[in-house]
Amino acid sequence: MTERQLPQWSALKPLLRTRPIELDPTTRRLERALSITDLRRTARRRTPRSVFDYTDGAADAEISLRRARSLFRNLELRPSVLRDVSAVDTTTSMLGRPAAVPFAFAPTGFTRLMHHEGESAVVRVAQRRGIPYTLSTMGTTSIEDVATAAPEARRWFQLYVWKDRAAGEDLMARAKAAGYEALMLTVDVPVAGARLRDVRNGFSIPPALTLKTVVDTALHPAWWLNLLTTRPLTFASMSSWDGTVAELLDALFDPSMTLADLEWLRACWDGPLIIKGVQTVQDARRVVDAGADVVVLSNHGGRQLDRAPVPLRVLPDVAEAVDGRAEVWMDTGILSGADIVAALALGADATMVGRAYLYGLMAGGERGVDRAAEILTTEIRRTMALLGVSSVADLNPDHVRLP
Ligand SMILES: Cc1cc2nc3c(=O)[nH]c(=O)nc-3n(C[C@H](O)[C@H](O)[C@H](O)COP(=O)(O)O)c2cc1C
Repeated sequence: MTERQLPQWSALKPLLRTRPIELDPTTRRLERALSITDLRRTARRRTPRSVFDYTDGAADAEISLRRARSLFRNLELRPSVLRDVSAVDTTTSMLGRPAAVPFAFAPTGFTRLMHHEGESAVVRVAQRRGIPYTLSTMGTTSIEDVATAAPEARRWFQLYVWKDRAAGEDLMARAKAAGYEALMLTVDVPVAGARLRDVRNGFSIPPALTLKTVVDTALHPAWWLNLLTTRPLTFASMSSWDGTVAELLDALFDPSMTLADLEWLRACWDGPLIIKGVQTVQDARRVVDAGADVVVLSNHGGRQLDRAPVPLRVLPDVAEAVDGRAEVWMDTGILSGADIVAALALGADATMVGRAYLYGLMAGGERGVDRAAEILTTEIRRTMALLGVSSVADLNPDHVRLP
């Protein structure tokens, strides 16, 4: 029989811990978020349904995105034990220059919709943490304003090729003049993907004031107040638009573009060229032969072709085929630092994240983006240590088993 006694105050007292109450609600919210999935949950509460769905959603039945995420979830990480991991180094190299962590912020259109601080908030975090930032053609802050917000950040410009080639040439010239390091050409948007959530929500740009949105105002007053009391929400690189994002893409983008157009691009841009949206070994070879410095394996976060190849699945074969002639990066479906580590082990030189930082932005503006970057970085470091690896270069395919 266990002998029992009444609890003694002297024994209880040292166990009592009073934590200072955090008065700032944003800090409180962000401290409670321990993972990107937690940030996503907060983002969902903080933003109107149509805004959250525009960000979170993908094309058609969203199978591309689900498969990408489920491959990350179901793979097995295989550690080596008894290795010295007292100092784990997360630095890697992107475009031949050192980067503090092995991920960049992917281009995302209409970022000031998610939070009024938008692109400027993201690029400031990028500057502080040494993470490259890609401004989208569909951005809501101008090329020059993003450069002013974070003059020391590594900035890249993402281009969609428009029917009006002169407009693209003008954007490239402005990006060059504003000190952007590289051009990222996105090649998986000959036409817009079918974003069914946007159609169902009646989501348009700019957000329309319908009965639905008026009801939503009551549910998300802070978001609406910020929308209505800050600079009007417009695209920075094109004239204003009245319609869905898909209609806009179809009106502007040139579906006749081919590999031969890379020559035109090369003539306009003499810096590093990143081609984003490659999905097969054959195409990776073709764009590298045509002069790409980086191939980004991506299906646009599942927002274009549904049931597209899962980038992580194609990665080992592409890395082998490219064989060091260009860098190979990947995105789509990354929700944790462990996902990033798995991609590096399977042959990626680096990765990019889209929604992961946007969930942070929606959850708490600039501080939310910082929290997202902090979570990913901590997870990368911890996963590497648990795998018995102290530098990115030591990761290899033996560390991952794909299902
Ligand atoms: C809301 C949103 C907007 C996006 N806008 C663009 C864009 O303007 N240009 C582009 O090349 N890719 C765009 N993407 C795709 C991202 O660059 C990236 O490929 C994708 O988000 C990666 O998947 P992940 O969100 O699972 O990390 C967008 C993605 C999201 C979620």
